Amino acid sequence: MRTLSLLAALLGGSALPLTAQVPRDSAFGPIAAVPDDGQRLFESQCTRCHGVGGTGGVAPALNRPTLRRAPTDEALVQVILGGVPGTAMVAFWNLSADEAKSVALYIRALGRRPPEVLPGDPALGRALYEGAGGCGTCHVLDGRGAGWAPDLSDVGIRLSGAQLRQSLVEPGAAQPISPLPSVHGPYPAYLAVEATTSAGRVLRGTRVTEDDFTLVLRAADGTLHSLDKTRLRRLRKTPGQSPMPSYAATFSADELDHLVAYLASRKGAP
Ligand code: HEC
Ligand code: HEC
Repeated sequence: MRTLSLLAALLGGSALPLTAQVPRDSAFGPIAAVPDDGQRLFESQCTRCHGVGGTGGVAPALNRPTLRRAPTDEALVQVILGGVPGTAMVAFWNLSADEAKSVALYIRALGRRPPEVLPGDPALGRALYEGAGGCGTCHVLDGRGAGWAPDLSDVGIRLSGAQLRQSLVEPGAAQPISPLPSVHGPYPAYLAVEATTSAGRVLRGTRVTEDDFTLVLRAADGTLHSLDKTRLRRLRKTPGQSPMPSYAATFSADELDHLVAYLASRKGAP
């Protein structure tokens, strides 16, 4: 998989017709007819991005009755085998068509579970988001806000209630994965870096992209700096550190419930 993404990167990404590799099964029978190793496969290959039980994580929750990119069972199998080009959802070429069907079956079963019930009031949460939280200075939501932090318009389908709460009180604990192709596999999109130039200037911010020679850093004010790695005196990376402040002390437990309820209600365009 890594060699292939390296190849894709060398070829400029677009030269590999990703979906053309998908074995097309003309006799795509009813999905319920496949053996039940779907859960095992899901847990070994998918939970690190989609969460245990498909409750979401760095990738969208899959425990929903309808999936945007997979309206039909056949489309679901196609997404698994072909990936979503240009995102961290890679093509799972290592799965056979039958294995992909059992994973699809498991995902559909997750979608039939009852939805999560959350205690907070979304309207009160919205007031905190737009007021005291100051969230719009970094995040975009429904097209409003400043914007280099993750877009929160569909965060309610990507993260469960527990994960939303964790984002607020323990930012950086589970950072989103960058959608950009990387020869080293998926990497966090907002890694904290501190670079000391040969002239002794210290730059702090988050990593936007990096290869063997160059690192692009975004400072807190949004300015991008392209740094020649071979000429840096020091480069320090701090995984798990977030530019987002923790709101554990800012908001009461009830207020956090309201914010979580508001975020959970953000499900993007239908
Ligand atoms: C490296 C992280 C990663 C892994 C591992 C991963 N996915 Fe994904 N997946 C994503 C991302 C990111 C998206 C969202 C792509 C988009 O639409 O922008 C996604 C989207 C999807 C979708 C479409 C969801 C929708 O709302 O339509 C399905 C279905 C899916 N993945 C299934 C799987 C399955 C099954 C596995 C395991 C075999 C898997 N994924 C493994 C990152 C991952
Ligand atoms: C100083 C900028 C900043 C402010 C202010 C800020 N955030 Fe964030 N937030 C970020 C960054 C950067 C990330 C991604 C890195 C991470 O998860 O640590 C993030 C991640 C998140 C996530 C997880 C998103 C995902 O896709 O995984 C949620 C939810 C979130 N913020 C909600 C909020 C809310 C609600 C507020 C206001 C109460 C807020 N943020 C204030 C910068 C900010």
